[in-house]
Amino acid sequence: MPWVIRDVVNDINKAAGKRWQALDALLPEPGDLPEGCMAPLVATGANGRPAGLAVCVHRHVPADSLQQAWGPVNQYVLTARLRGPDLLPAMDELLTGWREHLAGIAEAAGDDTAAMITWPSRDVTGVRALVRHGMAPMTVIAARPARRALPPGPDVPADLVIRRAGPDDLDIVTEFELGVISWDGQFDVGFVRPATEALVRQDTAASLARPAPWTWLAERGGHPVGMVVLQPPEQSAWIAGMTSAPGAAYLATMFVRPDERSGGVGAALVKRAHDELDAQGVAVTLLHYAQVNPVSVPFWSRMGYRPLWTAWDTRPAAALR
Ligand SMILES: CC(C)(COP(=O)(O)OP(=O)(O)OC[C@H]1O[C@@H](n2cnc3c(N)ncnc32)[C@H](O)[C@@H]1OP(=O)(O)O)[C@@H](O)C(=O)NCCC(=O)NCCS
Repeated sequence: MPWVIRDVVNDINKAAGKRWQALDALLPEPGDLPEGCMAPLVATGANGRPAGLAVCVHRHVPADSLQQAWGPVNQYVLTARLRGPDLLPAMDELLTGWREHLAGIAEAAGDDTAAMITWPSRDVTGVRALVRHGMAPMTVIAARPARRALPPGPDVPADLVIRRAGPDDLDIVTEFELGVISWDGQFDVGFVRPATEALVRQDTAASLARPAPWTWLAERGGHPVGMVVLQPPEQSAWIAGMTSAPGAAYLATMFVRPDERSGGVGAALVKRAHDELDAQGVAVTLLHYAQVNPVSVPFWSRMGYRPLWTAWDTRPAAALR
């Protein structure tokens, strides 16, 4: 990156960092901009100082990656940094430049594509530009600080037993993992593809083979009815940088059989997971939910999680306005 651009990036990152900290102490310092597919887009500002910068990265998710279960195959990801205080004009200018950049590329790439921006949930003044350019809030990364108190929930079913899963539970854990992907498929967030079942099974086998895996099953009469899966901090480095809190853990999967929902099974499983997290001194736990999932949004809010980042998408990418 030429020194002039480097100076501008540092300057805008500093302003964005100050802004983020004032809005949400759980946000990290803005990292360096990734290497993009072209020179950064620049939004005009007052006195010759740019009001914002953005970089586009083209990502192809291979068919043998489990990530294909959680997003389109071809992703055009914009990382934007804006100075503020009013983000609307700069965001609009950057999105207009991005649309022009993607025009031919996105159409040629077809339907299994998305134009994507992950934006701090509480940084709201530019959101109208995202909506007007045809973007929708698809998923949220939510955060739960340790030991956050919960309101009293429903009575736990008297015959409910929660136990740690092990290698012998491969079939049922795989079934529940696929259950979440299918459920989220209704919101265009989960994708059951030809390779998904085999990939989930392989991933599950590896995770259940670890000593004392952080996977718990809820059973009634010896019959599994629900599951929660955590990734301890040492397996959560891939997402831990999304928060300022050191050593974040990740809650990867939560599933209750449809005929057992709304009866307190989910809350009992989460309590078991939180007991473990709090005992291990984990400062913050992160998880994803689909923004329009009508059962998970209120559920996670009651369990003490609140939005940290919102992923805005246009699908297919050519629909970006
Ligand atoms: C999300 C899901 C796991 C919740 O499991 P659940 O067993 O239905 O959860 P619970 O019964 O413990 O909690 C939900 C109900 O209990 C109530 N509740 C639970 N804890 C509560 C608390 N501390 N305070 C107040 N109410 C509480 C809620 O009001 C809710 O009642 P409602 O359904 O009548 O509104 C389940 O709906 C599910 O598997 N959904 C499909 C997959 C999915 O969405 N997974 C999450 C992906 S991020």
